[in-house]
Amino acid sequence: MAVPSPVHREFLRRVERIPAHGLGLSIDVYSPDLTSLLQALQQRQVPPAYLEIFRATPNTLALVRKQAGNGLLAYHGEGLWLTQPEAADDPLFRQEVCEVAGHLQTLQSAWLNHECATKYISGYSYGTYLPPLYTECSAEVVADNTMLVQNLLDRHCQLANGEAPLVLLEMAPLTYFVAGTLTIPTFFRLVTEQVPCGLVLDVGHLWTVFRYSGAWRTRSLVQFVDTFLGEFPLQRVVEIHVAGLAIHESSLAVRSELMKTSSGDFLPVWTDAHAAPIPPVLFEMLDQILSHPRLTNLKGLALEVDTKPEELIVDEFARFSQRYATVFPRKADAGISCDRGGTSFQRKPVSASIRRTLGEAYDRYARVVAGRAKPEGPEWNQPSACTGELVTYRSVYLPYEILHWGGEVEAMFPESCRRLTEEGVPLSEFVPFWFRQPRPLSGSYDFFLLKIERFLEFVREKAPELGGIAEREADELSQAYHSANEPAIPAVSELI
Ligand SMILES: [Fe+2]
Repeated sequence: MAVPSPVHREFLRRVERIPAHGLGLSIDVYSPDLTSLLQALQQRQVPPAYLEIFRATPNTLALVRKQAGNGLLAYHGEGLWLTQPEAADDPLFRQEVCEVAGHLQTLQSAWLNHECATKYISGYSYGTYLPPLYTECSAEVVADNTMLVQNLLDRHCQLANGEAPLVLLEMAPLTYFVAGTLTIPTFFRLVTEQVPCGLVLDVGHLWTVFRYSGAWRTRSLVQFVDTFLGEFPLQRVVEIHVAGLAIHESSLAVRSELMKTSSGDFLPVWTDAHAAPIPPVLFEMLDQILSHPRLTNLKGLALEVDTKPEELIVDEFARFSQRYATVFPRKADAGISCDRGGTSFQRKPVSASIRRTLGEAYDRYARVVAGRAKPEGPEWNQPSACTGELVTYRSVYLPYEILHWGGEVEAMFPESCRRLTEEGVPLSEFVPFWFRQPRPLSGSYDFFLLKIERFLEFVREKAPELGGIAEREADELSQAYHSANEPAIPAVSELI
């Protein structure tokens, strides 16, 4: 057996202190209603072995911890843009990590799961995740930023067993395109060779890689999964997610046209959709993943069900619990002894020139996805990139995100919108306005609050006389939003 590298030994030292979590649910405390969901699962006699909680306010997380009794809780972070080259020098990033350390401490979460993806690129903000550039520079920077996060957690968060939570990077979904010079598994291999982090493999995300990397044109799904797993650092996978897939609401009309005119094996144009049913094909992929001999450090297997109707969650989790009842406990990594001491490896910080090169590549990325530059340059035309459906992202998905997703602008600002229409200002102009120039972030990332702020600026520019109306609507929205984020959660003790 090959001797593990110091980095991998450090990972093993950390991961062996994490208890098996079993079959769980990855959820949002605000939607669906957590208490009611857990009661329904209890009635069906399929209580989850753990809950992975999506980012929420500190008070809400404290309430969930108190009410979950001794149940295992894990944490799904948000808002740490560790794919971005400016993160390490940004005091806001460090502040955010320290806040996250507090959340992890409150929940007593053994890990911090965070998407290896971003909603903020070179001053431009998005509602949903964009995958990183899959390049060598990008792998270096992600490794460096991940190490920074782990070091900060080591300093600022100590769990009851004396350990700090382990950072897990989740492979992001693809939404119509991918850019880079490396395959995705090679990218994660390079990252994990440099830092002792764990990984989350999301099966639905993997399906979107099959679909939008163009792999489906040349091989079957089974062959794709086999090749992918052959290269992916599976021994680092600590958690697996399974969530729904669906045709995105923005492209339903466009897509039905395409489906009619295409011939042969045209696959559904699904994207990641947590509210949608989980298609059976994902469980076939999951079976293939679970039987892989290098999957040796799996601690949790969760359905990701935020925003899904309660009844559907209960049905899916009941079937899931039955089908995967024997997955845990798993055999540990036999024959590998780990150092018991502290960190025994050193890594050289990434150079300023690599961060600069990546910064320039992300500037291009932001311009390309907003339709202001052509997809040209190495990260856009290597075989590992796939941009055939980028136009759907640019012209359908992105405008929908700005106008409808995470806050329907017309419903948020009814009077302002009505008056703008009367004055001949079409709402569609808000989209180019949003992407006209970069804007630095001034606090925690919140797409809804950003939308309020940017729409106010839009109205002030296009129709200054309506500024007062928009301001009043913006104030009402902000107040309602802040009070909705601190709900009173009834007792859920002993339900998990
Ligand atoms: Fe996920």
